[in-house]
Amino acid sequence: MSTSTPAVRVAVIGAGLMGREVASAFGRWFSLLDCPVRPELVAVCDVNTAALDWFRQVPTVQHFDTDHRVLLARTDIDVVYVAVPHHLHEALYLDVLRAGKDLLAEKPFGIDLAAARRIRDEGVQLGRFVRVSSEFPFLPGVQRAIAAARSGAFGKILSIRNSFLHSSDLDPTKPINWKRQNKFCGEAGVMNDLGLHVAHVPLRMGWKPARLYAQLQKIYTERPDGKGGTAPCDTWDNAVLHCTVDLPGQPGVPLTLETKRMSPTDTNSWEIEILGTDGGVRFSTKQPKTLLTYTRGKEQAWSATDLGFAMPFKTITGGIFEPGFPDILMQMWAAYLAERAGQLVDRFGCATPDEAVAHHEIWAAALASHRDTTVVTL
Ligand SMILES: NC(=O)c1ccc[n+]([C@@H]2O[C@H](COP(=O)([O-])OP(=O)(O)OC[C@H]3O[C@@H](n4cnc5c(N)ncnc54)[C@H](O)[C@@H]3O)[C@@H](O)[C@H]2O)c1
Repeated sequence: MSTSTPAVRVAVIGAGLMGREVASAFGRWFSLLDCPVRPELVAVCDVNTAALDWFRQVPTVQHFDTDHRVLLARTDIDVVYVAVPHHLHEALYLDVLRAGKDLLAEKPFGIDLAAARRIRDEGVQLGRFVRVSSEFPFLPGVQRAIAAARSGAFGKILSIRNSFLHSSDLDPTKPINWKRQNKFCGEAGVMNDLGLHVAHVPLRMGWKPARLYAQLQKIYTERPDGKGGTAPCDTWDNAVLHCTVDLPGQPGVPLTLETKRMSPTDTNSWEIEILGTDGGVRFSTKQPKTLLTYTRGKEQAWSATDLGFAMPFKTITGGIFEPGFPDILMQMWAAYLAERAGQLVDRFGCATPDEAVAHHEIWAAALASHRDTTVVTL
């Protein structure tokens, strides 16, 4: 795409871990061959001026603000990406929408279900283009798994499992942060933090749970506060949701949604397994270019296909190379901007506000299930 094409002017609010990834993705946008839209990072906002300083090396950034209302009053911004702690989502997302900007929101899209509904409804009422960040479906292996499931090649679905697994919290000396405290992360704990990553594909496939039983675990109840003392760690660490999905003509399909901060041996493992009577798939970010598939036959075997760099938006990267996190983040942004421009065509789109609300409905049911030790109907 020509650099003379006018760029979509993007601003970041929240210059932390995820805010910096945006600058990185836009900085090598020229590696995309067929994305119809070009973004430019023009403004950044953080209450912490030290976080802003990192962005001074990004040549396109013109505005460095410490108050998001100052940034939102600027007229040279089209799209705002907000990556702040969860208790601030609702207020800041609503401010973005009311300032007349489009929004790429971070998950979980509000601290709870009620907040998610209010954000979704405001976006609809104001006619803004709003999507939610969830990058794993853009991996080649996941795209192939989705296409195979949609083709009906698996026959009758026997079971579905989607997991997102971390392990760094196994270290009891790891200091507390906002993601480990309910007042900032939300009552749903690890489900708020990691959950959209496991709900996005099932919801897109129409596999919404009809009923579920949840097992939630709080493992370490306090952590170092980073100042020589300790602080309460009141968040759910691990969540395993045993769900039932009623498919057309096939009621009672088991769907397991797992989000864990304490999963030994997993640093950032996103995994999906779909098993059917005629075929199935398994994919894990532990082997990011490998798709395991089986087809029903006399012998019981998985076969491994090296997919290489088969991304939804073509790139200059050699087809045999391995994809990684920065690549799928760039693909997700390409999908956001292409869909916003009405040019996504048949590619996979980012998570929608309705999907974000639906995922909060699942976590609300999980909290009720755990509290009452019962199966909850959604
Ligand atoms: N998509 C993903 O893979 C992914 C990964 C990690 C985090 N996240 C999500 O991104 C969001 C941010 O997480 P993070 O890990 O980047 O957090 P972080 O703590 O690294 O960064 C948050 C930043 O927000 C800033 N901030 C706080 N209040 C602010 C305000 N009022 N105005 C402007 N800036 C403010 C903080 O100073 C900090 O720099 C969360 O919603 C989280 O769930 C998504």
